[in-house]
Amino acid sequence: MILFKRTTDLHKYLDAQRQTGKKIGFVPTMGALHDGHLSLIRQSKSITDLTVCSIFVNPTQFNDPRDFEKYPVTPDQDIALLVAAGCDLLFLPAVSEIYPEGLQPTMQYDLGRMETLLEGKFRPGHFQGVCQVVHRLLDSVMPGDLFLGQKDYQQCMVITRLIELIGYKEKTRVHICPTLRETDGLAMSSRNRRLGTTERAVAVTIYQALCFIREELRPGDLARLKEMARKQLASKGFRVDYLEIADAGRLDPCPSWDGKQKLVALAAAFLGEVRLIDNLPLN
Ligand code: PAF
Repeated sequence: MILFKRTTDLHKYLDAQRQTGKKIGFVPTMGALHDGHLSLIRQSKSITDLTVCSIFVNPTQFNDPRDFEKYPVTPDQDIALLVAAGCDLLFLPAVSEIYPEGLQPTMQYDLGRMETLLEGKFRPGHFQGVCQVVHRLLDSVMPGDLFLGQKDYQQCMVITRLIELIGYKEKTRVHICPTLRETDGLAMSSRNRRLGTTERAVAVTIYQALCFIREELRPGDLARLKEMARKQLASKGFRVDYLEIADAGRLDPCPSWDGKQKLVALAAAFLGEVRLIDNLPLN
């Protein structure tokens, strides 16, 4: 695996590869890699010629400075996992490399209602930060294929929108890959490392509450079902930001179901200081 720290070096190398006809796949990450990330690397390797992974804990997407400070950073372990997975290139830039003009946003992305719903509502500015960094990363890597995890359901929609906004639609195909789960069902996440033993044992309740919604879903009013699932989380000590049943395509919350509309259940909740998110397509 080749390690790049500078955008210009990466860009130059990839340009030369592209000229020889190589197809480039890209997996952007914030490190603290787990099997979910590695499954994206495997997916990229199976359909492209060169797989690039980036590791960059992006300061502009953290609305909570403590979350940023505590975000797990495990570079040596990450590098070993990427080498073992057969990743070809790692881009590991410093903050000054991605934001040479400082952290203030240089442009505003029109994300429409996405910014007022769910993660957008509870983490103001988060998706603008995601767009800032992904825009810069795409300009550096210019991948033909981009691999994202469905665990970040709304982020997948935001990045798909970003790709349209910045004119990458014809150049980059987005692949949304299934969420990987631990054996008890907890969605794999870098933040799981921050859970203590007791918290880890109850963390799976978030997935169980989503499964409960999927099992109990019936046409008609959804308020009671959501309330019951929310109570399951609260009874295990979660502080719930949201637990919503939404249209799977537009993410608008659905107060009732006609039995046909495609739905997804999404949740975000704190266990102690750690904020977990998960989602489950329902039908
Ligand atoms: O999902 C993540 O790890 C990040 O939000 C991303 C897409 C790498 C942008 O920093």
